[in-house]
Amino acid sequence: MNKVKILAIVGSLRKGSYNRQLALAAKEIVKDTADFTLLDYQDVPLMNEDIEYPAPDAVKRVREEVKAADGIWFFTPEYNHFFPGVLKNLIDWLSRPVSENEPQVLAGKPAAISGISLGMSGTAIAQDHLVTLISFLDMKVMNVPRVTVPNAWQYVDDQGKLIMESIYPHLEKQAKAFVNFIQAKCL
Ligand code: FNR
Repeated sequence: MNKVKILAIVGSLRKGSYNRQLALAAKEIVKDTADFTLLDYQDVPLMNEDIEYPAPDAVKRVREEVKAADGIWFFTPEYNHFFPGVLKNLIDWLSRPVSENEPQVLAGKPAAISGISLGMSGTAIAQDHLVTLISFLDMKVMNVPRVTVPNAWQYVDDQGKLIMESIYPHLEKQAKAFVNFIQAKCL
């Protein structure tokens, strides 16, 4: 069977982001079954209807990447029991019709969610908010299994590198489930 195309969207712009490291670990796990790309969206401007049409180049580019993907895997931190504003801003752009003749690009796309945070929730509260948003946008959410890693400090070495050992089995389980979920939904 052909490899599925997974686009990873990390809700943190931080260079050493633990969520980014989680995404890179997932990339390694799925390398035989999926082409896995991390979306770079740092240049997407703040949503402003005054600049919506024609869409800024950065918005055009991220839309094309979403359109080309068979599934979207979100890796999100939790900021104040929510997902970060940078992610909400990106999704707000993606939620809008491309043109009068072309609808928004997220509808119907399979989605998975993982996250790691310093606090005890392990991003579970942020993930639930994200599920509400992306379900409204008609994404097909794989609710089980999700990965929620609390107390991130326990898994980080003194260089800020994630020690994946005990997280790995959960991520592997989710990765396999998501590839199957995508194949069942859209291939
Ligand atoms: C946080 N953090 C945090 N953690 C948590 O478990 N629950 C929370 O509600 C919050 N709130 C919060 C708000 C803001 C504004 C910041 C900057 C941080 C801590 C957070 O888990 C930690 O910074 C993670 O390391 C962020 O993820 P990345 O950047 O490592 O992927």
